Amino acid sequence: MNPTKDFNARDNTEPGLNYASLYHAPVLCNTVIQGLVTRKDGIYVDGTLGGGGHSAALLDVLSALGSVIAIDQDDDAIQAATERLSTEVASGRLKILKGNFAEMDRLLKSAGVDKVDGILLDLGVSSHQLDEATRGFSHRMKGPLDMRMDKTQSSGAAEFVNEMDESDLMHLFFKYGEEPKSRRIARAIAQARPILSTEHLAEVVRWAAPRGTDSKTLSRVFQALRIAVNQELDVLDKVLLKSVNLLSVGGRIAVISYHSLEDRRAKRFLRSGNLEGEIKKDLYGNKITPWKEINRKPISADKEEQSANPRSRSARLRIAERVDNTTKLV
Ligand SMILES: C[S@@+](CC[C@H](N)C(=O)[O-])C[C@H]1O[C@@H](n2cnc3c(N)ncnc32)[C@H](O)[C@@H]1O
Repeated sequence: MNPTKDFNARDNTEPGLNYASLYHAPVLCNTVIQGLVTRKDGIYVDGTLGGGGHSAALLDVLSALGSVIAIDQDDDAIQAATERLSTEVASGRLKILKGNFAEMDRLLKSAGVDKVDGILLDLGVSSHQLDEATRGFSHRMKGPLDMRMDKTQSSGAAEFVNEMDESDLMHLFFKYGEEPKSRRIARAIAQARPILSTEHLAEVVRWAAPRGTDSKTLSRVFQALRIAVNQELDVLDKVLLKSVNLLSVGGRIAVISYHSLEDRRAKRFLRSGNLEGEIKKDLYGNKITPWKEINRKPISADKEEQSANPRSRSARLRIAERVDNTTKLV
């Protein structure tokens, strides 16, 4: 791989589906690895291990001296990827750590690492989490109202749905699901409580949704609950802020997001170095930011990948390189 290659003129092929497993098919796999790796003997963090597809692809392009530290908060992912990548774990080229990527600095320290050459965040849930009815993530499956990625966490979706005030629920659906009928949905839920299963929640939402909008409303309501249960936006903010000090100069961060709330955050931060997206300039009018954007526009999956892996349709990839023109932000 040539790190100086014009990344935006990347190959059109996406052979990353070779890294798919029954657990999950990694999205934009080849593209993300091409954009992320600048040193083949570097240390890379996969903050969202899942089924290990991206980690496996990373390990394949790194030299024998390169290594990956992979993090996930879900025990199912830790188990599946540890089995799949057992040879790499045994050789020491791959370390798998259970935890939240919001704690990336602490997790890396526990592995004896202060600085890394690349960080990958493939946000959201895996296909396994969605397809496994007992995890309660999908409105298409009958399961408990759970949605915790980390099963040791105390509150799942049932606690949110049954214990929040109607007005707080309304705000939750509006803020995290951008749901236009959030008031109506929250009222229907409050009247139908207790709601303990995905099936029951889906039935109430379908009943309250304006005609012809069931499917979009269900997606928005389930997305909002999932974001709230797992504090997805807060942990993303935390890891973005920490990434500045964790990356060596010349190292890169790649963020794959699946909805506009995540993508907006990644875009603002990777442009400005702050969560507000405020571009600061010095006396000479130069931008003060720890980042050089590798792609200004987000990269999407091509048509072939989208038809082979429908989940890739909403994926947006942003990559930025750590540059040396800033003071410590965190
Ligand atoms: C989209 S999947 C990643 C799939 C992976 N790239 C692959 O190739 O299989 C997202 C994974 O990240 C994990 N995850 C999401 N948010 C996390 C967080 N804040 N901390 C740790 N893991 C997280 C989820 O449990 C899930 O396994």
